[in-house]
Amino acid sequence: MKPPRIQPSSRLKDVKYEIRGPLAKRASELEKAGYEIIKLNIGNPGAFGFRAPETMRLAMIENLREADAYCYQKGIFPAREAVVMQQQTRGVVDVTADDVFMGNGVSELILFCLSALLEAGDEVLIPSPDYPLWTAATILHSGKAVHYPCHPEKDFIPDPEEIRSLITERTRAIVVINPNNPTGAVYPLETLKEIARIAEEHRLLVFSDEIYDQVTFDSAEHTPMATLVKKTLCATFGGLSKVYRACGFRVGWVSFSGEKGGAREYLQALELLASLRLCSNVPGQWAVQTALGGKQSIADLTRPGGRLWKTRQAILDAVAISPFLLTHAPMGAMYAFIGVRTDKLPHFNDQKFALELLERKHVLVAPGTSFNVPYHNYFRVTLLPDWETMREVFVRINELLMEQYHESPGAHQEAVSADHSTTGADHSHDPAGHEQASPTEEPHGERQED
Ligand SMILES: Cc1ncc(COP(=O)(O)O)c(C=O)c1O
Repeated sequence: MKPPRIQPSSRLKDVKYEIRGPLAKRASELEKAGYEIIKLNIGNPGAFGFRAPETMRLAMIENLREADAYCYQKGIFPAREAVVMQQQTRGVVDVTADDVFMGNGVSELILFCLSALLEAGDEVLIPSPDYPLWTAATILHSGKAVHYPCHPEKDFIPDPEEIRSLITERTRAIVVINPNNPTGAVYPLETLKEIARIAEEHRLLVFSDEIYDQVTFDSAEHTPMATLVKKTLCATFGGLSKVYRACGFRVGWVSFSGEKGGAREYLQALELLASLRLCSNVPGQWAVQTALGGKQSIADLTRPGGRLWKTRQAILDAVAISPFLLTHAPMGAMYAFIGVRTDKLPHFNDQKFALELLERKHVLVAPGTSFNVPYHNYFRVTLLPDWETMREVFVRINELLMEQYHESPGAHQEAVSADHSTTGADHSHDPAGHEQASPTEEPHGERQED
């Protein structure tokens, strides 16, 4: 007898999260077959040797005895109060511990916040490109993801008027991801003010995903959305995963500020959802107070000469000498969203490229279309490896692009070699002090070939 066919719910039909999809599976298969794969598809600091600050671990160990029981559904008081104090130091004074929910990562709270809000067909304005959980969670809860474009030619900064033009009577909320994953954009104050004004005018709930709030480079300054949104409800998301390099602790939070008068039932619905899962990981919550107070060690990694800064610089240097690549210097977060010049490679396809890069060069990147963009000439890498590894990665990327270029029909070979000879030889502006490898040089290292 045939086994019964178990069909998944049709609700999941359009739900996607390709960052951990078929490409990542193929990478695991290659690893099992003995290949060493450089995996740049996920922003998981611990996987690249980053450690959470030791004091956070100590805070957790010291309090383990207090962590056997379920806690209050919204989270332990010291953790929620630490979030309140952080908000106060940023000038957001209308948040109390009652307005803070702790969750198993921001991921869980994104699901709760949309689940508690949406009726079938309700629309949520989400950036494109986006962190794809926002789109997936909207669709999962029968909502409609309406993407507002953050154009590459505008350095991925959204145009508030374009956002306004997408609002309908079904629009319920607007998602802002700042600093942005995947683009690394950090939005200017004026843009945020205008988005806040639009949300207030149209009584939209603002979901501000600020999980990378302290991961900024050079002159970039992050403005918390909660300082700008007063006349509508603002939900600010933060967590331990990125700034504190503790993804595995599974601790995130959402705090509510702004106009809470009309939101009582919504917040009660959220509390109901929080109760259904009883509580979030208790040991991890004990690290929050320690994390949020005092010196913020992330600054050592992002300042000039810091590890994240150096890797970002290695990318900028590699792109500058590549005849095929375009980039927009990431000003925050942990990623670079890199474009491929379609004048040089008109048939470039991000999915096909990512698969070939994996199979032929043993590097895993996330294709741009995984982030809900309509164009096919971008890919994302995380800034988490050390700069030497990143330099090697870009040697391999450029090799593959050169191979694709030679394989592509009607390649304008002279144009490329001319560009290459003028840009490829110039290693003089290498602020990280690295010796540059030329884009066509053979890669170093002991990588196995197919
Ligand atoms: C923009 C953004 N939001 C939320 C998350 C989820 O973080 P976590 O569930 O680890 O708190 C991520 C993870 O990469 C992210 O990039």
